[in-house]
Amino acid sequence: MKIYVTSNEIPEEAIKILSNLGDVKVNPTSGPPKREDLFAEIHDADAILCLLTEKIDGELLNNAGRLKVIANMAVGYDNIDLAEAMRRGIPVTNTPGVLTDTTADTAMALILSVARRIVEADRYVRDGKWTIPWSPMTMVGTDVHGKTLAIYGLGRIGEVLAKRARGFDMKIIYYSASRKPGLEVKYEMEYVSLEEALGRCDFFSIHVPLRPETRHSIGARELSLMKETAYLINTSRGQIVDQAALIEALGQHRIAGAGLDVFEEEPVPQSSPLLGMSNVVLLPHIGSGSKETRTSMAVMAAENIASALRGMRPANLVNRDVIQ
Ligand code: DGY
Repeated sequence: MKIYVTSNEIPEEAIKILSNLGDVKVNPTSGPPKREDLFAEIHDADAILCLLTEKIDGELLNNAGRLKVIANMAVGYDNIDLAEAMRRGIPVTNTPGVLTDTTADTAMALILSVARRIVEADRYVRDGKWTIPWSPMTMVGTDVHGKTLAIYGLGRIGEVLAKRARGFDMKIIYYSASRKPGLEVKYEMEYVSLEEALGRCDFFSIHVPLRPETRHSIGARELSLMKETAYLINTSRGQIVDQAALIEALGQHRIAGAGLDVFEEEPVPQSSPLLGMSNVVLLPHIGSGSKETRTSMAVMAAENIASALRGMRPANLVNRDVIQ
């Protein structure tokens, strides 16, 4: 069996699992493999452990006659054409659950950072601008406690963010494809329309997956519904937000700021106006970025491959109907 691993940063624990299954070929370059290398490697691979940076589409799968499983090391799988995988009977797996807490922590960290100007204040100190020992209005921000958090998408991560936010004494409203009455009681949350969530919140945090119906679901119209004092937080996928519209809203101070871990184009280009905005905190897609969580994700992906190659149903099958 050949198992192709598209990154040379996969923790040893996962590589060990894969090595017991067959020959593991790891992409030696830093960053994602070039498309032509991916083509060459997948040609005779029985399994692939890939990242969200790899586009797994019909063209690639046409060249992957032996492929028995695609294990994405991410909970999101918008980089994979599920219909094309399905047509060829190839199981696709993801890594849900293990990254929930870490990603919710990142969303909470962004809320606190933008509200209390943490990154800006750090820069202020380093740049030697802190010259008066204490002054009433130096680097003051806005409170988080007592404010209203809108959660857009109440899946696993949205739910844990609600739990975090309760600890910070925030009021919580949410909009999600399905209503969750049990969680409404547990976290004293109110279910509202998307428009109402946008209009009432002080912080709007995005937790929907990227799908055709969620792509650009936050655009100029939606941003115009937010208060001038409100902040947008995104730890999901950059494409949920119309980034040009967001830049315009931020530039015209129609919203107070943003905390962004994800972008329409990653890495975000150095020429992006976002880099010049002091009311925006920018992260390099590190929502799930703790050593513990990234190791758990890699191990989970490897275990999914192990199950599939042993003819068993992988625990985290995304295209569930592919296996009867
Ligand atoms: C995912 O899992 O989808 C993230 O974006 C990376 O953790």
